[in-house]
Amino acid sequence: MRITVVGCGYLGAVHAACMAKLGHEVVGIDVDENKIAELSAARAPFFEPGLEDLLLEVQATGRLSFTTDMSASKGSAVHFICVGTPQKKGENAADLTYVDAATNALIPHLSPGDIVVGKSTVPVGTAERLAAIVKLGQPEAQLLWNPEFLREGHAVSDTLSPDRLVYGVAGGSEDHPAVQLLDQVYAGPLEAGTPRLVADLPTAELVKTAANSFLATKISFINAMAELCEAAGADVTLLADAIGMDDRIGRKFLNAGIGFGGGCLPKDIRAFMARAGELGADQALTFLREVDAINMRRRNRVVELTRELCGGSLLGQRITVLGAAFKPKSDDVRDSPALSIAAQLQLQGAVVTVTDPEALKNASRRFPELHYQATTETAMERADALLLLTEWQEYRDLDPYDSAKLVSNLRILDGRNVLDSAKWRAAGWMYRGLGRP
Ligand code: UGA
Repeated sequence: MRITVVGCGYLGAVHAACMAKLGHEVVGIDVDENKIAELSAARAPFFEPGLEDLLLEVQATGRLSFTTDMSASKGSAVHFICVGTPQKKGENAADLTYVDAATNALIPHLSPGDIVVGKSTVPVGTAERLAAIVKLGQPEAQLLWNPEFLREGHAVSDTLSPDRLVYGVAGGSEDHPAVQLLDQVYAGPLEAGTPRLVADLPTAELVKTAANSFLATKISFINAMAELCEAAGADVTLLADAIGMDDRIGRKFLNAGIGFGGGCLPKDIRAFMARAGELGADQALTFLREVDAINMRRRNRVVELTRELCGGSLLGQRITVLGAAFKPKSDDVRDSPALSIAAQLQLQGAVVTVTDPEALKNASRRFPELHYQATTETAMERADALLLLTEWQEYRDLDPYDSAKLVSNLRILDGRNVLDSAKWRAAGWMYRGLGRP
């Protein structure tokens, strides 16, 4: 099939490459000329494991191209909308400017029988509103919502082998003609046994925001338990292992630490609360305010713990922050708890050096006032305290004896609870975890 993908960011670039891998002829469209130039040269404009190899592989087949020209969408049967829906400035609600602009720009190029498929995370009700706009512009085209569940760092495999496919169609019927068309798009994953659910438009939109809200709640739950563990002298990592063995609870997303960040979870729970308010159902989601508050408290807690670790004052203390990305295997620093902590420490008088295997360029753009070092070793030199804030494998693998030779003071705060505390203490380090004795 010929497919258009509008928006070539973390979601769209991966989606375009994966659709070409599934055998389709794909054109990726974005307004950002630099991004298009990079992608056209088979270079990923951001770090995502496996993406660059995939771009090289599919571009060699001639099935994938990129352009800034929206008229290239003409002739595609399926047009995916993959643009961002960031948080509005100064408000909790989602900014739908890009989704609206992408839909409106597509309309003049739609032919009868085409489908427009939204993948962006949007407030419930957006799809019905956009479906009406598409109908006005091209009465024989349809709009569907097909939420995306990919995780950064695993985006390629999550797209090629998703754990479920959700199609939102007007009326929610399996017999909707667009269902067949989308089944052709996803023929590969469907044949491999991926479950597929057909829902009405509002349910499909809600599936995504509900899933992200549940994940955020799970993380804040365990971080609330970490607060209690600290007060009671208990160990949250053992607590998580033990409750996680109950398969109704499950161990995944129960890692206590500095909390969640990124371009999705924080803004999605806020947009969900804002939308619930508009719908007169705000009470249903007031618990998400607490989820958000617990999450933000983690960052302050780390600043306080670092102060304690440094003997009561941060002034002039050389702090090395290991990790800037919001999570490992990503260069994304949007709402990164690691960077936010680094900036707070610097504001309170510490001399902060940040290192990260992939995210330094993005980090220094966002917080130019921090110091950056490209290698772990140089970043650690003469440090008064190390803070492990993003659990990249190379930081998990650090050797306490080798590290001791580089720093000025043997102090480490493990913001992700991934180090063996006994091993670090045995090597002479003052070790602090979060929610651990
Ligand atoms: C999240 C969802 O997991 C995806 O399913 C969804 O498609 C995506 O948002 C989206 O809406 O586009 P992502 O933001 O890539 O994916 O990252 P996650 O793996 O969910 O991690 C989010 C944050 O939670 C990270 O900062 C991570 O460090 C933190 N986290 C995760 C914890 O603090 N503890 C955990 O146990 C797990």
